[in-house]
Amino acid sequence: MLDDDPGLEAERRQAAGRCLAVATTDLPVPMTPAHFDQREQHRRSLFSHTWGELIPKVFEDVPKYYRIGNIVASWGLWEFWVWQFVRTIELQPGCRALDVCAGTNDIGIRLLRKQPDISVTAIDRSSEMQHEGQNRARKYGVRIESVIHDVHELPFPDNSFDVITLQAASRHLQLDRVLPEILRVLKPGGSFYHCDMLKPSTRAVEWLYVRFLRMSVTWTALVFESTAASKDCCDYFHDAITHFYTPEELSEIFRLVGFTNVTCKKSIWGGMVGYHKSQRPQLG
Ligand SMILES: C[S@@+](CC[C@H](N)C(=O)[O-])C[C@H]1O[C@@H](n2cnc3c(N)ncnc32)[C@H](O)[C@@H]1O
Repeated sequence: MLDDDPGLEAERRQAAGRCLAVATTDLPVPMTPAHFDQREQHRRSLFSHTWGELIPKVFEDVPKYYRIGNIVASWGLWEFWVWQFVRTIELQPGCRALDVCAGTNDIGIRLLRKQPDISVTAIDRSSEMQHEGQNRARKYGVRIESVIHDVHELPFPDNSFDVITLQAASRHLQLDRVLPEILRVLKPGGSFYHCDMLKPSTRAVEWLYVRFLRMSVTWTALVFESTAASKDCCDYFHDAITHFYTPEELSEIFRLVGFTNVTCKKSIWGGMVGYHKSQRPQLG
């Protein structure tokens, strides 16, 4: 049983200590397999319709202004978050990288600019986002293989990639299905890098954050004359955060799924954005 492993327990306490370096008054809830299952069922019951019907429509409409829209919605912080995320990623020459929910290939392009001697595969179910992603890759003179597919089933053999990234998308996903798939296609010893807007660990920050999001989404919808689907998602964008995981919970989840050496770094605002790094255990 995972919870009885003394090595994991020590690692977990260490990671919790690192995550809690930012002052918090709320005690983290232990994430057991049953608790994870319950939380995922709850997220599915709330968001299945949005994930299946509205989110695909939103991403049909946004590719052209996706990046600038994020910059406006985040009051300029987006670029900094992405830059910080890519800085955490280690790339050896010759490695194979997979960008999950690659969208406009922002991450893939940055990986190739950081280490040109790697291959990058992008997977996303939105052909519109990937079309824009391919245009951007051409503009930057890099090559990214594109696979259009739902990421709850990754169409790759076991042990395929040295590095996998997932940025700004896990709020829209069923993590109990996607994370085991990521673990399966990662090579033993390979690294998984995750970055997303998370539920802050402290209630006060969460309160401010949800209001900030509400204002940003409304303001962005006005500036870019959002479509009906995007407007229908206005409440969803902050509800998705409220029902998502804190940085500490996400670390626990990665360990439950089978990742090792899990570390998390929070942005300076008490975990509004979290950067996780973890690995698939070596064989033997
Ligand atoms: C907020 S965007 C992030 C994109 C990318 N990381 C970037 O910076 O351009 C989320 C992406 O996740 C994709 N996505 C959401 N649910 C998906 C699913 N179930 N399968 C595949 N892609 C999905 C969307 O199509 C969208 O491109």
